[in-house]
Amino acid sequence: MKTQEIARRWVDFFVSKGHTAVPSASLVSADPSLLFTVAGMVPFIPYLTAREEPPYSRATSVQKCIRTGDIEEVGKTARHGTFFQMCGNFSFGDYFKNEAIHFAWELLTSSVEDGGYGLDKERLWVTVYEDGDEKDLEARRIWEEEIGVPTERVVGTGKEDNYWNTGQPGPGGPCSEIYYDRGPAYGVEGGPAVDETRYVEIWNLVFMQYRLSAVRSKTDFDVAGELPKRNIDTGLGLERLAMILQGVENMYETDQVRPVLDKAAELAGVTYTSTEDPADPNHATDVRLRMIADHIRSSLMLISDQVTPGNEGRGYVLRRLIRRAVR
Ligand code: SER
Repeated sequence: MKTQEIARRWVDFFVSKGHTAVPSASLVSADPSLLFTVAGMVPFIPYLTAREEPPYSRATSVQKCIRTGDIEEVGKTARHGTFFQMCGNFSFGDYFKNEAIHFAWELLTSSVEDGGYGLDKERLWVTVYEDGDEKDLEARRIWEEEIGVPTERVVGTGKEDNYWNTGQPGPGGPCSEIYYDRGPAYGVEGGPAVDETRYVEIWNLVFMQYRLSAVRSKTDFDVAGELPKRNIDTGLGLERLAMILQGVENMYETDQVRPVLDKAAELAGVTYTSTEDPADPNHATDVRLRMIADHIRSSLMLISDQVTPGNEGRGYVLRRLIRRAVR
């Protein structure tokens, strides 16, 4: 299934569930505390924090995002990109955990003929927030009892993996993530806690309930209190799902990224061999081509949102991406 078709099905599904389709916002975040739009929820921060009254109580989007925190992983893993598109559904004080989980399962597992993505239920794993005494028992109950995911495929994980914040003071809350098992060819058995290459995270459901202050790291932040309303913020990685539905090895080989990689190989006069094995002599060249594909795509997307190379802030990030691709 082409990336464009995956995105179209996403929007159609959530519109059929009463959501308003909202176009992607600029990569240049309107929120002064963030350099870039790092997630689908960023344009909705004023609604999530109840600073502004939302014009709708349910929204859906396919948002272009830039994240450079994992830039060193780009090209080396199947799933890291500095530019990606995040498919999201949002509830502003409307539905909460129950509907969010049911919507996600329905869209992922209903058949392609019925408008879904047709993923095999047996290959899906989920995580729920469990950190010491803090346990999201409600999410676990919904997954196990209402959806019917076997207990051994519902994994409890702590703040590092299952608590969302933007890295700045603002809205946040515990998450539940959905993973897809790519099979034994990609790593050892045992679920996402053991191997995130074999078990790839595709969708993050955030139960956004809290106002965070003084965010020092993913695991070290202060909860200032409850948000005025309980919200839902979800994000599915479009390129990651495309990788799975297109049966390719990594997100750089999906239909929207591969042409950039092929052009780079052609211009450089080298061959891309699609190896993931670091011991393979072609590996270094493959990693370079994936990096070039990722960084050039990110750079073009930034330039199209009026960012220009410079020595600080957004301009510096763009300069760094171009410099790394050239190098
Ligand atoms: N904000 C969450 C994320 O980026 C879910 O959309 O993962």
